[in-house]
Amino acid sequence: MSELALLGGTPVRRTPFRSSVVIDDREWEELRNVLKREEFSRFMGSPTPDIDKLLVMPSAAAADLEGQYFSFLGGRTVRRFEAEFAARFGVTYAISVNAATSGLAAALGAAGIGPGDEVITTCMSFNATAMSILLFNAVPVFVDVDARTFCLDPEAVERAITPRTKAILVVHLLGNAADMDALLAIAGRHGLKVVEDAAQAPGTTYRRRWVGTLGDMGVFSFQETKNMMTGEGGMIVTNDPALAKKARLIRNHGEGIPDETWDDESLTNLVGLNFRMTELTAALGRAQLAKLAENNRIRTENALLLRDRLPDLPGLTRPDIPPGTVPHVFPMLYDEAATGVPRQKVLAALRAEGIPVGSGYLRLMYENPLFLRKIAYGKHGCPWSCHLYGRERRYLPGQCPVGEALLRRRFLWFYHIHRPNTAADMEEVAVAFRKVFMNLEDLRAATGDFTIPYKW
Ligand SMILES: Cc1ncc(COP(=O)(O)O)c(C=O)c1O
Repeated sequence: MSELALLGGTPVRRTPFRSSVVIDDREWEELRNVLKREEFSRFMGSPTPDIDKLLVMPSAAAADLEGQYFSFLGGRTVRRFEAEFAARFGVTYAISVNAATSGLAAALGAAGIGPGDEVITTCMSFNATAMSILLFNAVPVFVDVDARTFCLDPEAVERAITPRTKAILVVHLLGNAADMDALLAIAGRHGLKVVEDAAQAPGTTYRRRWVGTLGDMGVFSFQETKNMMTGEGGMIVTNDPALAKKARLIRNHGEGIPDETWDDESLTNLVGLNFRMTELTAALGRAQLAKLAENNRIRTENALLLRDRLPDLPGLTRPDIPPGTVPHVFPMLYDEAATGVPRQKVLAALRAEGIPVGSGYLRLMYENPLFLRKIAYGKHGCPWSCHLYGRERRYLPGQCPVGEALLRRRFLWFYHIHRPNTAADMEEVAVAFRKVFMNLEDLRAATGDFTIPYKW
């Protein structure tokens, strides 16, 4: 095998991989239509007659209504996008939001989560998962992941339940479905709400049903790097009219709607917020939704091809891609004990070959100083110090050993399985891996600084 690029040889690949943003005539057409109509956001936050009916109107029914009367639910494009999304995922309500982060917060808010409550979630996700729990002053409880799916370990969830637990926030990480049978059974036994963070998994199925639609509410992200993208944006889905009503209120300055007849329960969590999606974003969303199946097919095919082309290499485990999974990222596991080469050197060698491989999230969510020092709202420990909570919650290194090992030592993530990257690109990735792993002797002996300026 030729010399490693890291040690002066020729890289396998010199051209960068292409980004996942693939725009064509369809997006232009939808955007032009909205621009021509000069409709940017037709949301209004004030009451209209029959607001109670409007708040529980299924997305399909709200799609084609004309006129200002319906503006609490947004403009025409927003409502059409929601109806199409609801139809695509087989749910009654799709509620668009300006980001999945806001969507998760609104979903938990709609579920009545508040001060004194605990929400159990995974230790390993994008920070937004944890932050969304804090928004209505609940306390996140982080538990370990399953070593194969990288999603919540149901046994760890069960062990973490306390009298304060109100909900489980499940994340379908990297496109992998969490063990929903077990998680829903636990939630049922303990009377907990289940919110699914499906930001990375639009299109993945679990027992032939879409993830995101299995719990009480699900949330998808349309941020630029996601399987379907609108720059920023997200969608809450649910079949429950009461949850939909509250989520719609939270999205749109809901405190402007109630009158003195509303009871305290109905007023809970209606803190004036603006999570509304613009008409332009919804226009992009409609175009992207129409392409989701095709984009997901290409992602899945690229991932399966890459898995097949990677030979059995010492110290490298290829991902499981069970049927129904739409991989968001291609996660491999590295084993330094098998190679004697630190992961950092392998990462540096792969990158020098032109293959941008990362090692996953910077840290587990509870390792964020905000949690270690319990500083969220003000400097006095809120929400952990809230008198309604009354428990001691500590976030300590070592509390989720599986997640810690994955991030610190084991993960190698390759991101560019998405369109417009092709089978030929995947072949090159496999060639580079083979080259690096066939030259481990040289890599072991190499000296120098192999730190990478920032973590991917
Ligand atoms: C698992 C997960 N949850 C939540 C989010 C937040 O999504 P958004 O950027 O749309 O707010 C992301 C986005 O990166 C994510 O990956």
